[in-house]
Amino acid sequence: MKKFLAAMASTLMAVSLVGCGSDTSAGTPAPAATAAPAATAEAAAPAESAAPAAAADGDLSTKKVGVCIYQFSDNFMTLFRNELQNYLVEKGFSKDNITIADGANDQATQTNQIDNFISDKYDVLIINPVQSSTAATITDKVVGAGIPLVYINREPDEAEEKRWADNKWNVTYVGCDARQSGTMQGEIIADLGLDTVDLNKNGKIDYVMVEGDPENVDAQYRTEFSVKALTDAGLEVNMLDDQVGMWQREEGQRLVANMLGQHANDIEVVFCNNDAMALGALEAIKSAGRTTGTDIFLVGVDALDEACEAVLAGTMTGTVFNDHIAQSHSAADAAVNFLTGAGNEYYIGCDYKKVTKDNAQEILDSLK
Ligand code: GAL
Repeated sequence: MKKFLAAMASTLMAVSLVGCGSDTSAGTPAPAATAAPAATAEAAAPAESAAPAAAADGDLSTKKVGVCIYQFSDNFMTLFRNELQNYLVEKGFSKDNITIADGANDQATQTNQIDNFISDKYDVLIINPVQSSTAATITDKVVGAGIPLVYINREPDEAEEKRWADNKWNVTYVGCDARQSGTMQGEIIADLGLDTVDLNKNGKIDYVMVEGDPENVDAQYRTEFSVKALTDAGLEVNMLDDQVGMWQREEGQRLVANMLGQHANDIEVVFCNNDAMALGALEAIKSAGRTTGTDIFLVGVDALDEACEAVLAGTMTGTVFNDHIAQSHSAADAAVNFLTGAGNEYYIGCDYKKVTKDNAQEILDSLK
């Protein structure tokens, strides 16, 4: 069922792919004048009856949208939030009524921002949680205040998603299945063939892994499924190192520099859970005098512009397009559907896409 809904949603998203802007301005919520209302799950209205009457005629210009981003300095989430803001305005929201808050990678800070949005009577919230494990608490307070909620990017667990459906709450999740991105990373390497990748001829793929925030399923699944794709292709693997880089470029550089220092020429593949860390890894690879495509292979996820350029130049072996346009548009569309009373499925998916030298230019062009 989830797969079917996800497939349906990605078809819908393909239809909604329209131009993207570049406005980057974002506010932070004003401090709450009053304490947040007590949150009780029972207070939530069922999907059908929760639509504010004023939005039913399609006038969104007076509706207040609160957006919580786990951390503004994250490259991918910056693309996501800028596109989200532009598309919300395109849909008819007033820019002045869209508030985007930086959680600064701190759940307490973000929880405070959510409390402020609730006391300030925002009409709909779009939340990229700092910690997905806090989702139940967030859901309870937002639903308890009668505000519809769209989670993005960091998927709450199955038990939490089941609660939304069981209670017919106005809550949904928009994102991609990170297993797919991990699998694609592994396939990019497997497609090169053992002869090409097994530089030290030990019959195995000797790799290192640079993980994003391990609390995040994207990091967990990409780590697991990139390697699984190799073993599924019948290749033997040998993990030389696995470190946490928290999605950050500087960490990717620092960790891979250490790894290259420690394992020298044994490293054949560097898997990074995202492009920011892969771009950091690339700097370390260059400093160590290694050459991607010749004596080492490097893959990331996201298809940041700089990573696509690196793929074209051959300094990154490949990446996986994490479609921030489709996801941000789906999130905004879901917010609108809650406000108009149309409602949403409880899971709105999208597809990743493999990026190699063959299609990197095409992906870059599609993002212009
Ligand atoms: C992932 C993305 C990462 C990082 C992370 C934040 O989907 O690939 O670059 O933005 O989300 O949760």
